[in-house]
Amino acid sequence: MKRRVAVLISGSGSNLQALIDASGSTDYPAEISLAISNRPDAFGLTRAAAAGITTLVVDHKIHQPRRAFEEQIDQALRQAEIEIVCLAGFMRILTSDFVQRWEGRILNIHPSLLPAFKGLNVQQQALDAGAKVSGCTVHIVTADLDDGPILGQATVPVEQDDTARTLAARILKKEHKLYPDCLRAFAAQLEP
Ligand code: GRF
Repeated sequence: MKRRVAVLISGSGSNLQALIDASGSTDYPAEISLAISNRPDAFGLTRAAAAGITTLVVDHKIHQPRRAFEEQIDQALRQAEIEIVCLAGFMRILTSDFVQRWEGRILNIHPSLLPAFKGLNVQQQALDAGAKVSGCTVHIVTADLDDGPILGQATVPVEQDDTARTLAARILKKEHKLYPDCLRAFAAQLEP
């Protein structure tokens, strides 16, 4: 039986798309059952709807304070009987309360080789540090930002004439393979 997955997004949703595409295979152990965005204008919502996936907007500007925002998300996840939550370009920090409730069940993709370069503007951080190699990481979410057990990584070279934008694009391509691969492995070994 396929594991029920929710993907939380804030923007373009190209990683969401990669997960949707992968989960279309009959032998893939997870299905994308719900897409939640904190931004009503996120293009990822259009992608999900086009794939026939239930979408939901939980606008952080309306649902305040943070506890109320997370309560809405938590309720939606439970209602949809979600077993795994994938953060994919979701630009809100989750509280330790929320993370605890979903302990060991939230995955994130981050565009650097963790534990190097956490937080924002990580491609620029990599360039500023003179990194010769960068990449992306899929990890289990813990209460600490961009921390937690690493499930998989992929590397890319940093070219001499790279800008944050060109490096981000090279990394993003790798993300689109890494995230579905990691979710496949994670879902396959998840206890009932
Ligand atoms: C990706 O680079 C992801 O690693 C980061 O935000 C970006 C989201 O891109 N957390 P998309 O919305 O999946 O296209």
